[in-house]
Amino acid sequence: MSDILTHVEAGVMTITFNRLERKNSITAAMYAALADALEAAAGDASVRVVVFQGHETVFSAGNDINDFLQQPPAQEDAPVFRFLRAIATCPKPLLASVCGPAVGIGTTLLFHCDLVYAGDNAAFSMPFVNLGLCPEAASSLLVPQMLGYHRAAEALLLGEPFMAEAALEVGLVNRVVPPTEANALAQSVARKLAAKPLASLVESKRLMKQGQTDAVLRQMREEGASFGRMLREPAAREAFTAFMERRLPDFSRL
Ligand code: COA
Repeated sequence: MSDILTHVEAGVMTITFNRLERKNSITAAMYAALADALEAAAGDASVRVVVFQGHETVFSAGNDINDFLQQPPAQEDAPVFRFLRAIATCPKPLLASVCGPAVGIGTTLLFHCDLVYAGDNAAFSMPFVNLGLCPEAASSLLVPQMLGYHRAAEALLLGEPFMAEAALEVGLVNRVVPPTEANALAQSVARKLAAKPLASLVESKRLMKQGQTDAVLRQMREEGASFGRMLREPAAREAFTAFMERRLPDFSRL
């Protein structure tokens, strides 16, 4: 069974994170599959809307830490960067259904979605600093825009999780429901959108996003250069090794 499942029905492409034994953490191969799916969706007339979903217990634990240690993304055409560009430029509506932990990219990808539904067990976190890293996916631009600077600093510098109700309050999430209902709600909204005229959806999204996309892509490039460099530095090595060894990291000399 693939770690990324894609399924197209009634104009809706559903992309499912399917690596539960590793809490849906995302490897380079999975980023490549995600980028391929989004690029195909953009060019396929039978796809009008895309939905991301995980499991009722976990959306995604973010980057696969082992994979990142072994093959840190270096070039702009690395799968993770292809995926980030694809979510930032997807012309069709992107929806997400989020339950349980949504760590790192599990949260930052939501800032590129048009509609987000959450189970009441959803826990969002962007612990980049705690990992010796810096924000990615243009989150250093989009999080302050949505949350305001001080709440963004809390989320991005402290890196502590915030729950579904807080995400609803700041506008990251459209609706909170029991976890067993989140995927079905996202599907029903996706089908509603898919029944609308595609050109109107695409043009409306383009108009809402225009002026922002270039800045987002620029920010992603700058973040990507820093993130790639920091992945190889001692703080990230210590944080990742500590996670694998199930101990707290020691940054006292870094
Ligand atoms: N990369 C690689 N493996 C991961 C992972 C990740 N991001 N997240 C979880 N796993 C693995 C664990 O190592 C564990 O493997 P094991 O069964 O061989 O010990 C397994 O998935 C289950 O994870 P566990 O931590 O026991 O689950 P949990 O329910 O207690 O906690 C999380 C879930 C998501 C809160 C926790 O796993 C976590 O914080 N993960 C790391 C998140 C992170 O820092 N991501 C990087 C962002 S850049």
